[in-house]
Order: sequence, then structure tokens, then C-alpha cells
Amino acid sequence: MPSSIDLPVDPPARLLMGPGPVNADPRVLRALSTPLVGQYDPAMTGYMTETMALYREVFATSNEATVLVDGTSRAGIEAAIVSLVRPGQRVLVPVFGRFGHLLAEIALRAQADVHTIEVPWGQVFTPAAIEEAIVRVKPHLLAIVQGDTSTTMNQPLDELGAICERHGVLLYTDATASLGGNAFEMDAWGLDAATAGLQKCLSGPSGSAPISLSERAVEVIRSRTRIEAGIREESDEDTGEPIASNYFDLGMILDYWGPRRLNHHTEATSMLYAARECARVIVAEGRQAVIDRHARAGAAMLAGVQGLGLTVFGDVAHKMNNVVAVEIPAGVDGDGARGAMLRDFGIEIGTSFGPLHGRVWRIGTMGVNARFDTVLTTLAALEQVLRRAGVRVPAGGGVDAAYESWG
Ligand SMILES: Cc1ncc(COP(=O)(O)O)c(C=O)c1O
Repeated sequence: MPSSIDLPVDPPARLLMGPGPVNADPRVLRALSTPLVGQYDPAMTGYMTETMALYREVFATSNEATVLVDGTSRAGIEAAIVSLVRPGQRVLVPVFGRFGHLLAEIALRAQADVHTIEVPWGQVFTPAAIEEAIVRVKPHLLAIVQGDTSTTMNQPLDELGAICERHGVLLYTDATASLGGNAFEMDAWGLDAATAGLQKCLSGPSGSAPISLSERAVEVIRSRTRIEAGIREESDEDTGEPIASNYFDLGMILDYWGPRRLNHHTEATSMLYAARECARVIVAEGRQAVIDRHARAGAAMLAGVQGLGLTVFGDVAHKMNNVVAVEIPAGVDGDGARGAMLRDFGIEIGTSFGPLHGRVWRIGTMGVNARFDTVLTTLAALEQVLRRAGVRVPAGGGVDAAYESWG
């Protein structure tokens, strides 16, 4: 009998309907299994240039500085913050969920003078509340999450660029969970920096963080240029205090992706293939069509859980398209029900963090799973799990409501 360590990985079939990660698009999985080439092979540098162009479309930007940071989404966040902020500079973080706290934590470790404002989980900020805090704090950087999966809220960003411009503030957003599935307009909204990940609406594995930087952001980064000994030329000059992280120094990363191709890390080749394919798949379907598909699937899931008699958490008008939080009915063991979904139906739905733990499940419809059939399958399974847990659910109520919503 071979022990399992002698066998290759053979993961069970799963339908990942949680807040991410979700199933990777089969085209992305195929890209991941294609052969490696060398770091400076013209094929590789060609893929890098193409990836920059593809992500400009995904972010809706003409920013030349649109590249990948190797690592999960958090790597992109760290790179943005440590490169844009000098120790002691003020950073304002409006917190409306777990990932706002993460931005504040990362800014603190970058030795920024961090100021936060908060709304209760399940709500978003008004532009006026953010402007009032900007006037009071006078930050160098406003760092704000767009879609916070911990609460499912989607913070409107469209007015923040003009506000930041009025007050001379840089604007950075973490769009990890929202990009691809919700409206996002890097240039039209006046964003200076945005970061993302692959494992949500982009339908890839986690491990690569697309990032885009405005000219203004690049100027700030270039005011602390450093070129490592061993690759620098005589004409190269360092400026300002070095960025505290070598790996996340966006100036060095841009020099690697730019025409000089200055050696930095060894680009994670397979993840680059995956990231390129994620963006290519979105661009092929059409950026707006993908967002519309997420809106339609999200609306059907919302209608479906309401059709099952469940209560939706938070301000539904500001809910992300790609995830819904539903209150766990009284008397139901939330983790037990999630376990039954996985064990009996092969469907993963999400638990929650902090104050919402044990109170809500989070159900996603994102990436390749933002489809009608996945919505119906999940609702049909959830109905059975609830019924077996003793909840009186309207028979077929979820599926019927989803059919009606889908049209
Ligand atoms: C809004 C947001 N930011 C950041 C992260 C962290 O991403 P990662 O786990 O890829 O580092 C997540 C992950 O769920 C997220 O939803």
C-alpha cells in the first residue's frame, strides 16, 4: 500500500463559492503547466511587456508603470505602501473591515504616522467623511480598500481622486477582491496606485499581485532611487533615503520591468504565465462584460439567499457584486453546515472574521464561477443543508428566486 506521500497531489473536485480563492479558469491552469524559459529570453521579456499592456486594460489605465509584484496580494500592498511612504509621513486609512486594518498595519510597519477612521462593519464611508478626515489629518497618502471581503462592502472611489487632488494627497487602493468584478476606473477616478491579486475575480491562483502606478506615484518612488552595487553603472546616482525593503522597492521592480531590464528578483515565470492568462481571458471576454457577468450572478445569488428566507448582512446597496454575507439562522451550527456543504456537495462557502465570525457565511460568485449554473447548484445544496439542520426553508425558494433574477 503506497503511503499518500508517495502519490502526486490529487485534490478533490471542489466548487469554490467562498470569498476567494475561487476555482482557477482552466485556461489559466494550462498556462501554469507550460514550459519555463530563461529570465531574459526574448519570449519571456515579450510576455512581460504583453502582461503590462493587458493589465493596463484590466485597471482601465494608460499608466506605463503597470507590472506584477511577485507574492500574494499582500505583497502588492506592502510594495505600494513601503515605496510611497517615508518613515514619519502621515497615512490616512478609512477602515470598514479587516483589510482596512491590514493597510493600517502595513503602513505602521513602514513607520508611517498612521491615522484611521472607522465605520461599523457592513457600511462604507461617504466622500464627505473622508474629505473631513483628510482636512484634519493632512496625510501624504490615503490608503483605502475598494472591496473588503470581510464585510462584502464595496467602497465608492469615484469621488476620492478629485478630493485627494484638491488636498495634494496621494490615493492608493487595494482592489484585490473587487478588480474584474466591480466597476474600476484607475485613470477616470484619479487613483495614484492600485494593487490586486489573481485569486478572486481574475480566476487564477494566489501568488502574483498586479500593480499600477500613476506618473505622480512614480515620481514619488523615483525620489528614492537606488541601484544595487554589482549592476550599477557609473552614471547611476542614488537619490534620497533608500526604500526600507529591497524586495518591495518599486523603483527597482520598475527598472526590472522597464527598458533597462535591470536585474532584481528572478521573475516567477509560471505565475507570470498565469497572470498574463487571467488578464487575457478578461480582455477577450471584454472588461465591461466580465463586470456585468459578476453583477448578474451576484444579483441572482442575493435573490436566491433571500428566497431561502435568509437575512443578508450589511448595506446591500453597497455590496460587492462578487460576494454576499448571509446571517446564519438561529440554532444552526455555522461551521457544521459549511462542513456539510463541502462533504456532501463538494461546495465551499466561506466563514467570517472577527466580529462576524459565527454570525455570517460569505458566499461568492466570482471569476469563472460567476455563472448561473454555479449559483443554482449552490442554492439547491444550501437548501438541503439548511433543511437537514432543522431550518424551515421555502421548498425551491432559492433556486426559483435566482431563476427570476437571472431572467
Ligand atoms: C481586500 C483584500 N486585501 C488583501 C487580501 C490579502 O490577500 P492575499 O491573501 O492574497 O495576500 C485579501 C484576501 O482575501 C483581500 O480580500
